Amino acid sequence: MSIRPLFVGNWKMNKLRADAQSYCDKFCELLSSGPELDADIWLSVPLTCLDTVKDALAGYSGKNSDRLAVGVQNVHWLEKGAHTAEVSAQMLSDAGARFSLIGHSERRQYYGEDDEHVALRAKAAIDNGLAAVVCVGETEEQYRAGKTEQVVKQSLRTSLSSLSAEDCKLLNIAYEPVWAIGTGLAATPEIARDVHRLIRAELQELYADSGAQVRIVYGGSTNPDNISVLCQQEDVCGGLPGGASLDPETFYKLIVNGLGA
Ligand code: PGA
Repeated sequence: MSIRPLFVGNWKMNKLRADAQSYCDKFCELLSSGPELDADIWLSVPLTCLDTVKDALAGYSGKNSDRLAVGVQNVHWLEKGAHTAEVSAQMLSDAGARFSLIGHSERRQYYGEDDEHVALRAKAAIDNGLAAVVCVGETEEQYRAGKTEQVVKQSLRTSLSSLSAEDCKLLNIAYEPVWAIGTGLAATPEIARDVHRLIRAELQELYADSGAQVRIVYGGSTNPDNISVLCQQEDVCGGLPGGASLDPETFYKLIVNGLGA
């Protein structure tokens, strides 16, 4: 069975609602005038833009409309309670989110999130019907020390510790080397190939056939020029651009080039 590619635009902390609206208008215009794209196309937006993007996408019924989904950038693991500023998976689902990023390196680096939190968040997301995009990746220091394999393996094992083979239906993995994020220095196709291969092997060891179907996307300084060769590597099932997703034309071009469409 072949895996449908996935492209997730991570807006991070960018865009006001009016920007989100004009982005969606332009993006849908591009989707309707281009070829059929055999990929899922997700927008990971700030909470304040969730409603705007959800409505904009719901109002679009043209070409590729069934491929689109809106989601968020984090999710809390508890259902409700005294957790000021947090938002639960149930609330996000109720508000129209279809997926969440989990364990993005900026959350790990600046907000102290670790693999144990990631495991809780991923389980809560999936139990509430949200797809999870679990992010793993080594820091520059770990990369230089030749520890990529060890770090990614360990991080993956712990991050997925609460998930079953059944949960794989809603699971996606993003390999995002921290040294490649926002630096303009993407991983080479060989590095991406090797690490994605390692992640695939781990997934299959943990979940057998179900693990073979989980999408593994690459993120870290992807752009319309470098995405094609990255996506040609075995087990690279799409991309997770940050900067290159902020402009609708660039994001669209990245997807088209990634698919070789
Ligand atoms: P970048 O970000 O494409 O701007 O490097 C990717 C990410 O952080 O997900």
